[in-house]
Order: sequence, then structure tokens, then C-alpha cells
Amino acid sequence: MLALVIGLLAVGTLYTLFVPEPQTASAQVNAAQVREGKQVYNNACITCHGTNLQGVEGRGPSLIGVGEAAVYFQVSTGRMPAVRQEAQAREKPVKFSPEQIDALGAYVQANGGGPTVPEGSLAGGDVAQGGQLFRMNCSSCHNFTGEGGALSSGKFAPALDAVTPKQIYTAMTSGPQNMPKVSDRQISPEHKRDIIAYIETVRSDKGTSTNPGGWGLGNIGPTSEGIVAFVVGIGALVGVAVWIGARA
Ligand code: HEC
Ligand code: HEC
Repeated sequence: MLALVIGLLAVGTLYTLFVPEPQTASAQVNAAQVREGKQVYNNACITCHGTNLQGVEGRGPSLIGVGEAAVYFQVSTGRMPAVRQEAQAREKPVKFSPEQIDALGAYVQANGGGPTVPEGSLAGGDVAQGGQLFRMNCSSCHNFTGEGGALSSGKFAPALDAVTPKQIYTAMTSGPQNMPKVSDRQISPEHKRDIIAYIETVRSDKGTSTNPGGWGLGNIGPTSEGIVAFVVGIGALVGVAVWIGARA
């Protein structure tokens, strides 16, 4: 009996000794990543965003609570680090490696949390559903097929033809500049994937054989058929007018 109790205790002790090991290891990896991120941050971002991410008056906003999604979006599109004050940070060649971007994200995430970068594949969304959601939520600024458009005071919604699915996703969850943040309650992660599928479909249509044609009116469809209907219709009206005139 005593041997059994001792045996069980020993197994229990060994279990508690060994099981948490993987968690501790990943926590260490994460801590190292956060340290690396802090280093990159101190070199490239601190002048505008402050020593503790709290922002610097007149230079850059606080990054507390913006989350790794905002960092991923801003740095992977080359918007950050910004070089000077302007209406809207421009896209530039990307300055950091994917590992450095992840590290920066981990550092910001560890200090205030916020939206995270999505894991796994973003492919396989429903294009039709995505088109409907895009027209309701995005087209007012980005145009019906993602061509973009001007907003007020030197700001603009960019064309969406050079962004990756992950950038589209993090643009939605971080809401850069004038773009509204889209929470998972407003548009579920699944519906965000549908929107991504739609954007990828409309842009792959441009300039290929599946292009519906038209005079660059935002790829809205076959204008040629409209012209035929127009010419034939006017022709018929003229004919009727001439006929009425001849009878009078
Ligand atoms: C020259 C100043 C400057 C530097 C350097 C700079 N930023 Fe910024 N950052 C800004 C300004 C200004 C904005 C807000 C305007 C905008 O988004 O265009 C901003 C916005 C951001 C945002 C978006 C915040 C939000 O609310 O969504 C993130 C994230 C960010 N910066 C991260 C970084 C990171 C990471 C670095 C370093 C790699 C960096 N920035 C370097 C000036 C700067
Ligand atoms: C109120 C106007 C507005 C609406 C609505 C809007 N956006 Fe934006 N969007 C913007 C602006 C402005 C920017 C540029 C922000 C910047 O450069 O900091 C932008 C940037 C983007 C980018 C980054 C493009 C690039 O070249 O890096 C993507 C992707 C994007 N929007 C997708 C969407 C999607 C998807 C929706 C609908 C769910 C949407 N937007 C709704 C204004 C809007």
C-alpha cells in the first residue's frame, strides 16, 4: 500500500516536472522575440512613438493597444517607419525582414495587446458573398473593384491590387488612417476571408481574357452591348419620328 502511494506521488511529481516544460520553452522563445522587437523598435521607431510606446506629441501616435496586426500592416507595406510628417504615410520599400516584423509585432502585442495577425491560410473564401460585403463595407472608399479613390485633405484610399491576403486582413482589423476598424463582431473572420477572395478575383480579372470589357468605368460590364441597344433604339425613334412627319 505504502509503495503504491509513494509510486503515485513519484509519478505525480514527475508529471508536474515535465509537462509544463514545452510552455516554458515557448514562453522563452516569445520573450527573446519580444526583446529583439524592442531592440528594433528602439532603433527605428522610438523617436516618433516614444520610449514606452506612448507616442510623441506631434510625431507619432501611441501604439499601446494597436496590436501586432497594425504593426504587421504598417511595416510589411513599407508605410512604417515613416520618414516625415505627411497627410498619410506612404508605401515604401519594406525595411525589415519577416522575422524582424514578427518581433516588432510581438513587442507591441506584449505591451497593451490588441488585434493579432491571423494564423493559417486565408484562402477559400466565398467570392459572391465577399462581393456583397465589399460593396456594403468597402466600395464607398475603394471603388467597386478595389481601384481606390481620393478622400479629403490629401488623403486617399489606395488601389487594392498589390496587397497580400494577410495585409488585407490586418488592414481590416487595424483600420489604418481614415479606414474604419472592422471588428470580428461586425464582419466575422470567415466573412473577412470572403472579402479577400473577392478582391483577389476582381483584380485577377483585370487585363485578362475574362475582363468583361467596357471603357474603364470600373470594369462594370459589357458596354458594347449597351451601345448597340442605344444606337438601335435611337434609330427606331428617329424612324418613327420621320414616319409621323411624313404622314402629317
Ligand atoms: C517619422 C516618424 C515615425 C517613425 C520613425 C515611425 N512612425 Fe509609425 N507612425 C507615425 C505616424 C505620424 C503615424 C500615424 C499616421 C499614419 O498612419 O499615416 C504612425 C502610425 C503607426 C502605426 C499605426 C497605429 C494605428 O493606430 O493603427 C503603427 C502600428 C506604427 N506607426 C508602427 C511603427 C513602427 C513599428 C515603427 C518603426 C519600425 C514606426 N512606426 C516608425 C510616425 C512614425
Ligand atoms: C472610409 C474609407 C474607407 C473604407 C470604408 C475602407 N477603407 Fe480601406 N483604406 C482606406 C484608406 C484611407 C487607406 C490607406 C490608409 C493608409 O495609407 O494609412 C486604406 C487602405 C486599405 C488597404 C491597404 C492597401 C495597400 O495598398 O496597402 C486595404 C487592403 C484596405 N484598405 C482594404 C479595405 C477593405 C477590405 C475594406 C472593407 C471592409 C475597406 N478597406 C474599407 C479607406 C477606407
